[in-house]
Amino acid sequence: MPNPPPLVPSSPSPFPVRACGTAALKLPVLGVGCFSFGGGAYWGDQSQRDVDEVIARALDLGVNFFDTAESYNSGASELALGAALKGRRDAAIICTKIQPDHCYRADVRRHCEASLARLGTDHVDIYMIHWPLNANSLKHYTEDAARLAQPPAIGEALLAMDELRREGKIRHLGISNFGVAQLAEALAVGVPLALNELPYNLLARAIERELLPACARAGLGVLGYFSLAQGLLSGKFSGFDELPPIRVRTRHFRGDRPGSRHEGPGCEGETLTALNQLRTVADRAGLPLGDLALAWAISNPAVTCTLVGARNRAQLEANVRSAQTPLSPAIRAELSRITDPVLEILGAGTDYYQSATNSRSW
Ligand SMILES: NC(=O)c1ccc[n+]([C@@H]2O[C@H](COP(=O)([O-])OP(=O)(O)OC[C@H]3O[C@@H](n4cnc5c(N)ncnc54)[C@H](OP(=O)(O)O)[C@@H]3O)[C@@H](O)[C@H]2O)c1
Repeated sequence: MPNPPPLVPSSPSPFPVRACGTAALKLPVLGVGCFSFGGGAYWGDQSQRDVDEVIARALDLGVNFFDTAESYNSGASELALGAALKGRRDAAIICTKIQPDHCYRADVRRHCEASLARLGTDHVDIYMIHWPLNANSLKHYTEDAARLAQPPAIGEALLAMDELRREGKIRHLGISNFGVAQLAEALAVGVPLALNELPYNLLARAIERELLPACARAGLGVLGYFSLAQGLLSGKFSGFDELPPIRVRTRHFRGDRPGSRHEGPGCEGETLTALNQLRTVADRAGLPLGDLALAWAISNPAVTCTLVGARNRAQLEANVRSAQTPLSPAIRAELSRITDPVLEILGAGTDYYQSATNSRSW
């Protein structure tokens, strides 16, 4: 006689998660970047229908981590995420960020509570300082001369955030784009930090040099952003001039491109050579370049969660597939070797938009 069917249908295997340093938190190895949500000048139009579909599908697939910020589209990203999570908030892990010029002691609570209101929740799982607290980073958010002359101190920011954590409005505290010295300063404040959010992809590997080991030593998890190099590593662009100008401003590209802030020569030749070689490996493996690029980032166990901005359900599903693409150690090493020359030129500086003279991260 055949076995009776199980009473509870078997569920698909759960999406892989990783422990976030020493914090009592586990994150899926892939997270959804919500920068485009709400639509705006940086990423262009973004319909709420697509946002709703991305969030619903992500939750169904076990990708339950969402990264937003108060500055993304002036709060519209948080609003769009909150709307899409209506009725499913408890299934989600939400990270939002406070912008550096809002980190004065007297301001933190107001900005955190405004984020909670936009998100339609009474707590966020992770609350981060979006960029280090110095004039180079503040000037992207404010022209107020007094604030630029006296940026908030890391101690006042973190202590104010910790007060909200103890009230239950924040579950975990984090920092973003903090370099090794800034991380040490933040740790010295003595409040528990769970995460540092940093750029990481095949063409942006600076954190491998010093910062990943420093975060691991301090018991912090790492969120990787820029994982598809804003679409360049998805393979859908064949040349740099096809990319929207706003996406060719990192130190990979010539500093005389419109809106560039680093004034350096860039390394377009080396970047293009690396991309062509990566494409050859992808073709040989019979995989889209994006699958290899995401699988490569995720295969670094020192990165807790890799974020990708998904504009619609199709991109989300492709990214979930990429995240589960097996990558042999030999192919991983080959991909890394291909991009070693770019790493060599761009060095250990993790601010890919600004040069050694005006970097926000150190
Ligand atoms: N902490 C920070 O300072 C910081 C800074 C930047 C970003 N972030 C976070 O990281 C997230 C991701 O942003 P990012 O700048 O790092 O960009 P990214 O994830 O490297 O690239 C996102 C872009 O890649 C394209 N894409 C995504 N999936 C694709 C697919 N399957 N096929 C083809 N193209 C695909 C889309 O481009 P199209 O628009 O062309 O479709 C999308 O807009 C943000 O949403 C944010 O949460 C954090």
